[in-house]
Order: sequence, then structure tokens, then C-alpha cells
Amino acid sequence: MKFFIDTADLAQIKEANDLGILDGVTTNPSLMAKVGIKGDEAVTNHYRTIAELVDGDVSAEVVSTTFNEIVEEGKKLHAIHPNIVVKVPMIKDGIKALKWFSDNGIKTNCTLVFSAGQAILAAKAGANYVSPFIGRIDDSNWDGVELIAQIAQIYSVQGYETEILAASIRSPLHIVKCAEAGADVVTSPLEPILGLLKHPLTDIGLAKFLADAKSFK
Ligand code: E4P
Repeated sequence: MKFFIDTADLAQIKEANDLGILDGVTTNPSLMAKVGIKGDEAVTNHYRTIAELVDGDVSAEVVSTTFNEIVEEGKKLHAIHPNIVVKVPMIKDGIKALKWFSDNGIKTNCTLVFSAGQAILAAKAGANYVSPFIGRIDDSNWDGVELIAQIAQIYSVQGYETEILAASIRSPLHIVKCAEAGADVVTSPLEPILGLLKHPLTDIGLAKFLADAKSFK
């Protein structure tokens, strides 16, 4: 399973990248706003900086909702850097645009996916990635990880090549459960990724080893 970081914060991207396990980055308009990126030029520069920092796919989301506008905006995003993946919302014109991008060799990530039916449509339209939002599904009292397992089963039976990118991750356990359920990629904020490191027995064990090591130095 690939690890992407879900942020537009350069310091966090660098920290995750320095671990040596980072395969890519996802952003969205809310994450860009959170780090204070405003205006077309600043947005373009920020995506370029991220893409130059990380050796992997970087999802940049369109903010258009009609076919022609999504295609035009997506072409501009794609032109910023070869690793930019155009992130397109799961709407009717988004599906048409995903097919257009697929026919024209531009990689895509279909976002805001909350059902297996939507995931089937994204695969049919040729999306490279489909992003089910696990945490937001859990918030609405359904099981987000169960959706990952269902999509993985459908894609396997049908032979769809779209990669399942588990998004809206809230905890280290989400990451583990998504790996178990068959996600191809998990995109997570930094904290849940670092949370995977932690176990109290590791800390206790290390403290003892270091203390004992002093006796023979
Ligand atoms: C997906 O790519 C989105 O950027 C993201 O995972 C949404 O997560 P949230 O529900 O924490 O906003």
C-alpha cells in the first residue's frame, strides 16, 4: 500500500518525506486555504513546490463544476508539473471530464466518493485513483472501512485498474484497517502516520535496553 500525505503544509510534507516512506501528496481547496494560499499564481507556485519536493503523484483539485471549465482548469494544473494528478469531484460533469482526461493521457483522482456505485462510475470513466472519504463516512454513522473492502472486492471481480485511495483518515487504526481492506493507497494527515510508530512496550523496552547498555560501556 502506498502512503500519501493529505496536506498542503510544506513543513509536514517535508517531515513525512524525510521518513523515506512517502509516495505522494493529496491536497484540496480547504487544505490550501488552511495554509493561506490565495490567488492563481500562489496556488500554481505552491503546487509546483510540492511536486518538486516529493517524488510521486500530487493531487491538485479543480474548483470548476462544468465539463468545459473542469477540462480547461485540469489542463492548466497538469501543465504545472508532470507529477500533478487532476482531482475531480464526483459529479455528472466530473465523470465526463474524467473520461476526457483519461482519453488525453492526463492522470486523475476522483474525489468526494461515498458509495460503491460512485466508485464503479469513477472506474468506468478511467480515473487513475478513486478517493472514498473514510472519516466522513464514519462521522455519518456508516462504516468507512467497509466501503473500502466493498470497492476492493468489486474492482477485483471486474478487473478495474483504478487505484483505491483511502482518504479522510483520522487515526493510525484507520490506516491499518484500510491496508487490511485492500486499499492501494492511503492519504493521511501527518499525525496518524506518526501514530503508527507508537507502542508503549516499544518505549519501555527501549528504555531498558539503553539503561542496560550503560552497564557494559
Ligand atoms: C481527500 O483527498 C481529501 O483531501 C481529504 O482526505 C479529506 O479529509 P477530511 O475529511 O479530513 O477533510
